[in-house]
Amino acid sequence: MKPSILVEIPQDNVKSYPIYIDKEPVRDLTKKLNKLSSGRRRLIVISQKVYKLYKSEFDFSKDEIFILKDGEDQKNLKNYQKIIEKAIELGLSRKDLIIAIGGGVVGDLAGFAAATYMRGIELIQVPTTLLSCVDSSVGGKTGIDLPYAKNYIGAFYQPKMVFINLNFILTLDKRQMLSGFGEILKYAFIEGSCKSEKTYLLLEFLSIAADRILENNINLIERLIKICLELKISVVTKDETEGGLRKVLNFGHTYGHALETITRYKKYTHGEAVVYGMMLAFDYALETKMINQTYYNLAYDLFKKYGYQTIKPVKYDREKLINIMKYDKKSNAGVITMILPNRKGSVTEMEITDETLFDM
Ligand SMILES: NC(=O)c1ccc[n+]([C@@H]2O[C@H](COP(=O)([O-])OP(=O)(O)OC[C@H]3O[C@@H](n4cnc5c(N)ncnc54)[C@H](O)[C@@H]3O)[C@@H](O)[C@H]2O)c1
Repeated sequence: MKPSILVEIPQDNVKSYPIYIDKEPVRDLTKKLNKLSSGRRRLIVISQKVYKLYKSEFDFSKDEIFILKDGEDQKNLKNYQKIIEKAIELGLSRKDLIIAIGGGVVGDLAGFAAATYMRGIELIQVPTTLLSCVDSSVGGKTGIDLPYAKNYIGAFYQPKMVFINLNFILTLDKRQMLSGFGEILKYAFIEGSCKSEKTYLLLEFLSIAADRILENNINLIERLIKICLELKISVVTKDETEGGLRKVLNFGHTYGHALETITRYKKYTHGEAVVYGMMLAFDYALETKMINQTYYNLAYDLFKKYGYQTIKPVKYDREKLINIMKYDKKSNAGVITMILPNRKGSVTEMEITDETLFDM
């Protein structure tokens, strides 16, 4: 099988892995997974909705499946424990594997279980949402949420392989598609900071091709997936564990994570929260003259084109939000740090000492 993209981690060849992007029937993907894991034990963690939708095409034994209910609030310690218990029950050894089939919630949670079970067993990611195809299934961040802080427990743990099957995209509802576009917009706004050898002009592409993309033209979606992954890979292969460059991927996330946390992971999709985080960053950058009005307008036009209301979410308790952001892993000794736009397609990290930002 020739990979569509190869992720090469320069410091450690063992960690390098292929990404396969395909349109083959899901049944054929299942056969591939069965062949790959033949002779080994495996635990398949799968989203409840995906299981229901694709049950007839999956050829897995019921015993080896852990079905995860839907929702961000499922990415928790309790389910982590249940997955580990299931792995023990199945008698998984270090030679065996965990397969994650679902969106970012399944990928992050099952990934964290794979990273920690017996100090790490093989992980295969099969992302089934647009967001997990363009972002979460690649790069090695795994983790779970705590009630007061998102992704607070986790590990950097690269998968062995990633299988993207574009058929999964076809059953996503509109809200989940828009959530994926949220992260795709992020890549457009940070492209210039990703130190990629190639130029994609993602901002222009998203603007010009918006109508066809929003009609779910699968060839364009495939192209977007490849562009976002290549940008992400350019970043994570230079900075796997977020010592510096990788922070650009957090654009929109400090405030976005706080919004998700304050609403107990029930009100916003991840992509929606990230978009509101990016809007706040654009407002602040305009106010402080880091960017000009033309770029600001271009950004807001794109938010609108991709289905986002440009009215900010209802105001939450300001002090609570600020506190959550101070807890955020991205903060530094209680000082909130944010990624802000500084010119077209480019971002920079800044410490936020002026908390009036959160009144915008
Ligand atoms: N590890 C990383 O680098 C990284 C990056 C970005 C986001 N994330 C995490 O990813 C999570 C968000 O992921 P998400 O947006 O995929 O959400 P999700 O995993 O909650 O999935 C969204 C919904 O889509 C449904 N679904 C999944 N596949 C489907 C399909 N093919 N057809 C129909 N419905 C389907 C799910 O059942 C769920 O209800 C967050 O927890 C976020 O923190 C991680």
